Amino acid sequence: MRAVDIIIKKRDGLELSKEEINFFIEGFTNGTIDTYQASALTMAIYFKGMTDQEATYLTESILHSGDILDLSAIEGIKVDKHSTGGVGDKTSLVVGPLVASLGIKFAKMSGRGLGHTGGTLDKLEAIPGYDINISEEAFIQQVNAIGIALVGQTGELAPADKKLYALRDVTGTVESIPLIASSIMSKKLASGADAICLDVKVGSGAFMKNEKDASRLAELMVNIGKNCGRNMTAILTNMDEPLGLAVGNSLEVIEAIDTLNGNGPKDFTELCLEVAAHLVLAAKLAKSVTEAKELLQKQIENKEGLHTLAKLVHAQGGDDSYIYHPEKFKKATHEYSVLATQSGYVGHIDALSIGNAAMILGAGRSKIGDAIDHSVGIVLAKKVNDKVCKGDILAKIYANQENVDDSTALVLHAYKITEEQVDSKLILKIVK
Ligand code: URA
Repeated sequence: MRAVDIIIKKRDGLELSKEEINFFIEGFTNGTIDTYQASALTMAIYFKGMTDQEATYLTESILHSGDILDLSAIEGIKVDKHSTGGVGDKTSLVVGPLVASLGIKFAKMSGRGLGHTGGTLDKLEAIPGYDINISEEAFIQQVNAIGIALVGQTGELAPADKKLYALRDVTGTVESIPLIASSIMSKKLASGADAICLDVKVGSGAFMKNEKDASRLAELMVNIGKNCGRNMTAILTNMDEPLGLAVGNSLEVIEAIDTLNGNGPKDFTELCLEVAAHLVLAAKLAKSVTEAKELLQKQIENKEGLHTLAKLVHAQGGDDSYIYHPEKFKKATHEYSVLATQSGYVGHIDALSIGNAAMILGAGRSKIGDAIDHSVGIVLAKKVNDKVCKGDILAKIYANQENVDDSTALVLHAYKITEEQVDSKLILKIVK
């Protein structure tokens, strides 16, 4: 087999076989196929696409390039969730404890944030002492003991994806639906869960800018997961405004705690219940989404979800008193209000700009390895369709610096004020 023939076949829009895809991915990973040929193939995939079968072979090939977590020592159905990346997205901190409080095993490896989107690991590290680095053995033991672990990556999962993603990043081939689907699904499948709920974000702050592309991505990932024997659901959600009110690490942990206490923002609570309900269905603890949501709502009312978050924090070395006393989180030294310059209704809040405004305060990284300031961030005071009068507070900026002109300008730029309310809904579609 020759790499060039595979490139030509895809260039001409033909379907690649399992053997051809394996040959190429193995060659690229071990260095016998060079980056210039891999660039040509990814560009051909970008233009010609892939069938669901090809995308499944590609995912499996990337999956088998590294370690695959064996969760068979954990009893019962293991569930996981994944978000394609949003602003203010602290869903795992609520969904995990809620489902685990019902006895469902939530075994999740998370990532760090980069650019305008935050990462669950950075949020967890806002809790003093929380250790994201636990061994595979300890991970399995913890899930068996308390039903939940939220950790950084153990072992080397999907190294071919790391190499391919770095190449796509510099060759204009990130935005290819089969390449995104195989990249995400290879890592999810390597993490070993039986049932996976994907939250596919749509909108200005997301990878997928329109619902049609997001639907195709969701359907492809669901099909890949099903082809690999997993119970899959994908939820298409609107990212035309940040999720909830808080953006920034400890601010988001506090919002997750508020939500587990029953006092969360409406949109964020709605999404957490939707994602968790599909995991409850997959674990066969309810017969319908409505029944699953009722079960979950009870776990909020009786504080079992909150207690499970405290157990998780304690098990991973963190100070669980912060979960019951969120006022203990270190506060930023300065608080600034961003005021509305005109009256009307909030028509749109550009999530990308809000994410960038928080990032330049120190809440996120512009490059891998940058340090994070857990105490800074932004809390929105107005959401889409809220009425606004000139001079009202749109958002508050929490900073450890005196000059926040750049963040203020980004927040003001993010808010689009309209004369009338707009059609807006959070959950756009469920793909089973
Ligand atoms: N996230 C991933 O892990 N891979 C992609 O290609 C895009 C988003």
